[in-house]
Amino acid sequence: MMFFYRIAGVLLLVFTMLQAQEESFKKYADELGLNIGTALGYQFERNTPEHNEIVIREFNTVVAENTMKAVILHKVKGQPDFSRADKLIDFAQHHGMRVRGHTLVWHFQNADWICTGERESTLENMKFHIETVMEHFKGKVHEWDVVNEALEEAPTGKMRDSEWLRSIGPDYVDSAFAFAHRVDPDCKLFYNDFGTSVLGAKSDSMYAMVKRLLNNGIPIHGVGFQAHQTAADAVPELYLGVRWNFERFAELGLDLAITEMDVTGSDWEKQAEVYETFMRVTLELPAVKSFVVWGVRDNDSWRRSGTPLLFDDNWEPKPAYVALMNLLKDPPAAVQPFPGSRSVKSGHDSGQLLFNGKNRTLSLRNTGMVNPLPIAIYDLRGTLVASAVMSAGIPLTLASLLENEFTGTLLVCSEGGVLRVNVVR
Ligand code: G3I
Repeated sequence: MMFFYRIAGVLLLVFTMLQAQEESFKKYADELGLNIGTALGYQFERNTPEHNEIVIREFNTVVAENTMKAVILHKVKGQPDFSRADKLIDFAQHHGMRVRGHTLVWHFQNADWICTGERESTLENMKFHIETVMEHFKGKVHEWDVVNEALEEAPTGKMRDSEWLRSIGPDYVDSAFAFAHRVDPDCKLFYNDFGTSVLGAKSDSMYAMVKRLLNNGIPIHGVGFQAHQTAADAVPELYLGVRWNFERFAELGLDLAITEMDVTGSDWEKQAEVYETFMRVTLELPAVKSFVVWGVRDNDSWRRSGTPLLFDDNWEPKPAYVALMNLLKDPPAAVQPFPGSRSVKSGHDSGQLLFNGKNRTLSLRNTGMVNPLPIAIYDLRGTLVASAVMSAGIPLTLASLLENEFTGTLLVCSEGGVLRVNVVR
């Protein structure tokens, strides 16, 4: 009898261990068809066991934090050194992971020989670099960040003043995509930038640029949102800011990817909220195919003082890890895009909607050409609170549509735009 209990005990232990092993980002992401990834930096190159164990357990996608940048791969023209990047490819293939390529055309960590200051020779060198690198990784890298950070850091809508721009002119972006597509027509080609996660001036200029490329028949297939965020971004508006922004890029028929996510801040609960918001949008919008974090452990991050990653210095998971796991385990349903325009206005008049009052007695009037005008009222989590149809000239009192106890910010959406309304008691 004693023997039986021992055997049962051992079996239970093994079962529990197996169950614990099964719990991982990768398990759930694979089921959802999501690329869940991380950047491999120097802990990978050092072969640190704790690091590699986490990567193998949690992720189905990897990207080189540095080793596929021009200065490392192709420092001397025609003498590429693929040794460090190939180690990453071997590792990924051995563990059944996909590889994002990062990055072909960037103003930083560029090889000195490429930009000459003169248009024709720089174009020639760009083409040669792209061919050399993409040929080598053909079939092993499923998508490339072809152009990285071409827009100005400050959201001015202008292109970044870089060697690329000075040597070639603004159409260097077009040329890079065209060259890349010729080398590997099966590879998905991305534009990648930071400071573009939410609706705003910089994401507007990225949208305009990408739309122009598509209109000109340039082979661009995706947009990468680096998502270098801070815990202070954990405000209720973040969710819709990201979602509406992502929705407009998805409407262009592009793949979307979160490519380098990290969130600085000492408040790890707030940090978790920001990660969670981005994962929620990822799971809600089918166009978002990848969610990639920029490293494994805080101490190894380029922003290490801000403790921005999912694992602490002892390789222990942080609240953000738990928040992401919970969402992956129990994913939200895909959402229906909001009707109408996505420009949020906080003023009085938005298109056909007229702001006539304050708080609960706010009434809306259809002053536009569309009659009757359907409206939908959402809270900041994107939940539909009420919908109605407005007739021209007849005011609609918001209070009549809401539960009596409702307070908070609402978004009244119509074809004419979005009106932001604060409902107070
Ligand atoms: O490889 C040299 C090494 O030989 C030398 O001993 C050491 C001394 O500091 O420097 C090493 O190179 C550093 C490299 O990281 C590898 O650690 C570079 O100086 C350093 O500039 C480089 O920083 C990287 C940075 O891009 C610039 O390429 C960061 O690790 C990397 O996280 C960061 O990643 C970028 C993305 O590619 C694009 N988006 C923004 C993101 C953050 O800046």
